[in-house]
Amino acid sequence: MEHKEIDHITGTETTGHAWDGDLKELNTPLPIWWLWVLWITIVWAIGYSVVYQHWFIGNKVLPTMSEWTSRGDVHNALDAAKAAMAPQFAKLEKASLDDLRSDAALSKFAVKAGKAVYGDNCVACHGTGANGVFPGSGYPNLTDQDWLYGGKLEDIVETVRVGIRSGHDEERTNTMAAYGDDETLNAEQIKNVSGYVLSLSGGSLKGADLVKGKQIYLEEAACNACHGDDGKGVTEIPGAPNLADKIWLFGGSAEKIVYSITHGRKGEMPAWDARLTPAQIKAVAVYVHSRGGGQ
Ligand code: HEC
Ligand code: HEC
Repeated sequence: MEHKEIDHITGTETTGHAWDGDLKELNTPLPIWWLWVLWITIVWAIGYSVVYQHWFIGNKVLPTMSEWTSRGDVHNALDAAKAAMAPQFAKLEKASLDDLRSDAALSKFAVKAGKAVYGDNCVACHGTGANGVFPGSGYPNLTDQDWLYGGKLEDIVETVRVGIRSGHDEERTNTMAAYGDDETLNAEQIKNVSGYVLSLSGGSLKGADLVKGKQIYLEEAACNACHGDDGKGVTEIPGAPNLADKIWLFGGSAEKIVYSITHGRKGEMPAWDARLTPAQIKAVAVYVHSRGGGQ
């Protein structure tokens, strides 16, 4: 570096490079503090990778100095959480539903644990917060007062355990026949009985059509056997939706109701006894029950 030319306008040293004869480059190096930061980060990165980073050669994972991994951290935290909850889950496992009703602390734990079970397993079909975000889709809202198989804690535990048309040995089921496909009723009759169904929740069918529809409902097709004379269902034969409450499992438009009667309906709810522990089933039932629709 014997060259030392000072640019006379800026007073800064030049690098000696010149373009087009006298266009010269000023020598303005990076600030020392900046360079230090750069060197330190490089040294840090090498140290970090020696201590923590898993390098691969082919499929072989090279050892690191530290046993720590972020994944391991998560596992440890989960194990710790499980261990912390184990006594309460054990208590829940043994508790009868009456115990749950009388033990406020246990029931509070069940609601919390049940909310997690719900989030992992039920949201996809029943919506977050058990609020049935898909009206008319066949996936029932679990927060309203309308229950197919009962909204008591016992009923919900059983529904979750065995499912509905799930193939479980003890599944809950009740068959809504396909009155059109089976040719039990013709299109005209289905139209009439649909109008009658709608009239149960304030629809406008009147006169001779209403009389015909009612006759099919009560006599020819005996819809009342499952849905009740008033459409509100029959306690001994659960599973048939209340037709008089304006809450529709499969939709309440005239077309949807005609579809339900023509083709029948067979909603399926999985059984959970093989996938959840009895304590988890109790917990999720308590959570669903606590959402406000429980009977
Ligand atoms: C694959 C979709 C699906 C999943 C997942 C699912 N359900 Fe269901 N569930 C349904 C369907 C469909 C019905 C209605 C079946 C019918 O038409 O009778 C139902 C019905 C129910 C009922 C009966 C409601 C009543 O009115 O009696 C309860 C209670 C219930 N589910 C709770 C749960 C809980 C708790 C979970 C999570 C552990 C869950 N479901 C997960 C589809 C699902
Ligand atoms: C053997 C019992 C049974 C009989 C008889 C029966 N249903 Fe149903 N019905 C059901 C069941 C069970 C469901 C719900 C099926 C499901 O959840 O998948 C249902 C569903 C319906 C629905 C859909 C309701 C909704 O909320 O979306 C309508 C509408 C309906 N039935 C009308 C009728 C009419 C009209 C008749 C007579 C022509 C009839 N049902 C006869 C059992 C019955």
